Amino acid sequence: MKRNVMRAAWLVTALFLAAPVFALDIEKLKTGGPYVPTPQIVVDQMLKLAAVGEKDYVIDLGSGDGVIVLTAARQYKAAGMGIDIDPELVRQSNASAQKYGIADRVRFVQQDVFKADLGQATVLALYLLPAMMIDLRSKLFNELKPGVRVVSHDYHLGQWMPDDTIGFDVAEKEAITGVPRATLYKWIVPAKVAGSWQIKIAGGETYELALKQRFQAITEATARAGIRPLRPQAVSLRGDEFSFLLPDGRIVARFNGRVSGESMEGTVELPDGKAPVKWTATRIAGAAVVTE
Ligand SMILES: C[S@@+](CC[C@H](N)C(=O)[O-])C[C@H]1O[C@@H](n2cnc3c(N)ncnc32)[C@H](O)[C@@H]1O
Repeated sequence: MKRNVMRAAWLVTALFLAAPVFALDIEKLKTGGPYVPTPQIVVDQMLKLAAVGEKDYVIDLGSGDGVIVLTAARQYKAAGMGIDIDPELVRQSNASAQKYGIADRVRFVQQDVFKADLGQATVLALYLLPAMMIDLRSKLFNELKPGVRVVSHDYHLGQWMPDDTIGFDVAEKEAITGVPRATLYKWIVPAKVAGSWQIKIAGGETYELALKQRFQAITEATARAGIRPLRPQAVSLRGDEFSFLLPDGRIVARFNGRVSGESMEGTVELPDGKAPVKWTATRIAGAAVVTE
């Protein structure tokens, strides 16, 4: 009996001593910054900028009280997941999901953002400190599917230029950050198209296309038909949508297509008014995308 009492007392003491250590450890792991909620008015603009809809799966890295994912689910019927290192915030977020009757579509998980599985995301939300944004950049670039919209509150991804930026006044941010303004950034994750491609137009010409890419920008594009060099123009990559003009003699062909891993397919329009024809492409030599 005495021994049991001693053991219980020891356990209580150990738990008491461990509690602040655990709390301190959580604070140390918050490399993305402390919990500072995005004001609701800013959340609404973030979801609007990302054009969130009911087919979306929204992931918030460093989800705090869950406001971004909860709003996406309640206002736009989206599904999603929040990741936060703080177990109390995760508990609170899951309780909110239960309260709003949306726990079948959203969940919150205690995890380090660097370990998060981003495979399901169609939209990714961020409000993390600048150094963490830079540290996360290659994970986002390499693990998010082409076409995923990334939206961030106030902090950008350095050399990976945003595809869209908006700024607006938010009086309540004065008390939180000292600046009564919010800036929102949006990126569309690009497909990786760097390398050489062999293009075949259905029932017609074959071309070789060589592309250099830095993040979403095509920095150089050259082409040839046999030994004849050609100069592609207006080369555009947005998510997995790829298009360019190919002047060949007096004809300018307009290629529109989609990238899927090592292949592309789409339609090519010629200026003579004929119906568009199909084209396909296969990557014949890979090259690294420049990400610095
Ligand atoms: C500025 S708050 C943003 C909260 C929420 N996304 C919002 O916009 O309202 C940052 C959140 O990131 C969490 N966090 C910081 N470092 C983290 C890490 N390494 N892994 C997971 N969560 C982290 C913090 O606990 C905090 O809740």
